[in-house]
Amino acid sequence: MRHHWLLVGACGWMLLILMFASKFINFNLRAADDYVEKSEIQSWTVSGTKTIKSPSMQKSERQDEKPSDLTAEPSSADLSDWRSVEAKRLELLSAVCKNSTLRNLTHTSINKFVLDRIFVCDKHKILFCQTPKVGNTQWKKVLIVLNGVFSTVDEIPENLVHDHEKNGLPRLSSLSQVEITERLNTYFKFFIVRDPFERLISAFKDKFVKNPRFEPWYKHDIAPAIIRKYRKSHRDSDAAATGLRFEDFVRYLGDVPGRRRMDRQFGEHVIHWVTYAELCAPCDITYSVVGHHETLERDAPYILKAAGIERLVSYPTIPPGITRYNQTKVEHYFSDISKRDIRRLFARYQGDFGLFGYPSPDFLMN
Ligand SMILES: *[C@@H]1O[C@H](CO)[C@@H](O)[C@H](O)[C@H]1NC(C)=O
Ligand SMILES: *[C@@H]1O[C@H](CO)[C@@H](O)[C@H](O)[C@H]1NC(C)=O
Ligand SMILES: *[C@@H]1O[C@H](CO)[C@@H](O)[C@H](O)[C@H]1NC(C)=O
Repeated sequence: MRHHWLLVGACGWMLLILMFASKFINFNLRAADDYVEKSEIQSWTVSGTKTIKSPSMQKSERQDEKPSDLTAEPSSADLSDWRSVEAKRLELLSAVCKNSTLRNLTHTSINKFVLDRIFVCDKHKILFCQTPKVGNTQWKKVLIVLNGVFSTVDEIPENLVHDHEKNGLPRLSSLSQVEITERLNTYFKFFIVRDPFERLISAFKDKFVKNPRFEPWYKHDIAPAIIRKYRKSHRDSDAAATGLRFEDFVRYLGDVPGRRRMDRQFGEHVIHWVTYAELCAPCDITYSVVGHHETLERDAPYILKAAGIERLVSYPTIPPGITRYNQTKVEHYFSDISKRDIRRLFARYQGDFGLFGYPSPDFLMN
């Protein structure tokens, strides 16, 4: 009998400790592998990737941080300002969805490809559509922890983050039609976008210049296929020596009919450059929030609050300027590319520019 009560007591303590610890799950974007370029990662200032901290550690680390308004809790005034920004985004989205001129570039059926992009957190009734190059791995980790298979972000082995059979973060496509419809109708749904051309530059750098160690297919399969089809004058030795150029990539991306067969061959890898409209079906699924990478400092806490998980996870300190749109960089990348190719590229991504309110890059086309 006495043992029995000891056990109950111990369980109670464990529960208390867990409840307390869960308040300090740290939503840490710093080590994001898909987030920003290496040089930028080094300038992230928050130290440590520990996710569950004792209160005293938490305090001392806080004091070490550089004071910045980004580390402060958003005031309720900020939040209501931001609510109107978010509401305007959704208004624009729905207006552009109705524009028949852009219809082909904005609508897509809610097919398997889209359902594969969307992750399900049943415990908190959240759906998250994954769009690469905006810190998505970290959002996924947070949702994995919230779903409960792992108790901290750090416990999730890197190779499990994207293994949705095992990590407890199922894809929407793994559910039945009835379950899918119910979730699409009732859950909080969000995704994050960034300037479409900056996104393509980022994808190009990450997949074809840096040559990710664990993803050799970009350099060894996809790049040669694009070069064969789109490089104007190519000698094989030349292609091998220089690898994919941004110019080749742009020509491939802007070629709507020609791409179709190649993209089927490339399979899932195209998620790094197909339009947001194709990835997340924003005109056919009624999303609750669309975050912008450029304003992630305000969008991240807004999303956490709107999803009702702001007490469970906190957003990282984002060094000022890191997410800002850089026109100089865009001009630099497009400086050697013909206006014709840029216009064709824009024609392909015009839907994304319009839906999410990014100004068309006239400075590149005129
Ligand atoms: C639809 O989109 C096109 C292309 O962006 C634009 O020129 C046109 O004004 C839009 N139409 C409406 C009704 O907003
Ligand atoms: C939209 O797509 C359909 C079928 O793919 C095509 O027939 C039509 O011409 C396209 N419309 C525009 C405005 O591009
Ligand atoms: C913008 O990009 C250019 C060229 O890549 C770089 O030199 C510059 O430092 C960047 N500016 C900012 C504010 O990050």
